[in-house]
Amino acid sequence: MTATALSLAIDALDGDAAEAAIPALVEILRDCVANGASVGFMNWNTPADYERFWRDIAAGVGGGQVVLLAARNEDGIVGTAQLHLIGKPNQPHRAEIAKVLVHSRARRQGIGEALMQRAEAIAREMGRDLLVLDTDEHGAARRLYNRLGWTEVGTIPRFALMPDGADCGSTFFYKSLA
Ligand SMILES: CC(C)(COP(=O)(O)OP(=O)(O)OC[C@H]1O[C@@H](n2cnc3c(N)ncnc32)[C@H](O)[C@@H]1OP(=O)(O)O)[C@@H](O)C(=O)NCCC(=O)NCCS
Repeated sequence: MTATALSLAIDALDGDAAEAAIPALVEILRDCVANGASVGFMNWNTPADYERFWRDIAAGVGGGQVVLLAARNEDGIVGTAQLHLIGKPNQPHRAEIAKVLVHSRARRQGIGEALMQRAEAIAREMGRDLLVLDTDEHGAARRLYNRLGWTEVGTIPRFALMPDGADCGSTFFYKSLA
């Protein structure tokens, strides 16, 4: 185990902590997009776009619709993940995992796995026992989700774009915690 992994802490942020974390979260999102991750943004997006995105998420945390996780090591916040609690009356048991992001300088130390394990534990505590997510068919996250026992439903070609404008297929997964 590395020194980074030893000092890792994963916190669920409240609304104020989410606001305070925005500069670090902007940097993580910027880094992921700059390194070619298909996570909702393009090469031409700016830090101001990322900041708007995280402000909306912080508002969702404050409103109770989103659980926002931050992974911290001695360098500060280096990873994040979200649990979106589905608000539809007929889906009170369901949540969606989104924006599992680890800064490129902190990858391959188990932080992505730790974020997923924590997100699943919180979902279970909140009675959300059916989880769904989707990810770039060619990304490292697909291996992570398979390794953690998620079930692949299939891949939709051309679902999104890579940051450089190339087509990106999205692979959909679910995990039942029931
Ligand atoms: C996907 C992502 C979150 C994974 O984060 P991570 O912290 O590197 O994840 P982990 O360390 O748990 O696992 C990644 C790899 O490191 C390996 N690993 C974990 N700990 C390790 C260690 N101590 N030493 C060596 N390798 C290790 C894992 O086995 C895994 O290998 P694999 O890629 O061959 O399957 C990260 O790559 C990322 O942010 N990508 C860009 C954003 C993205 O696409 N997110 C998904 C959106 S749905």
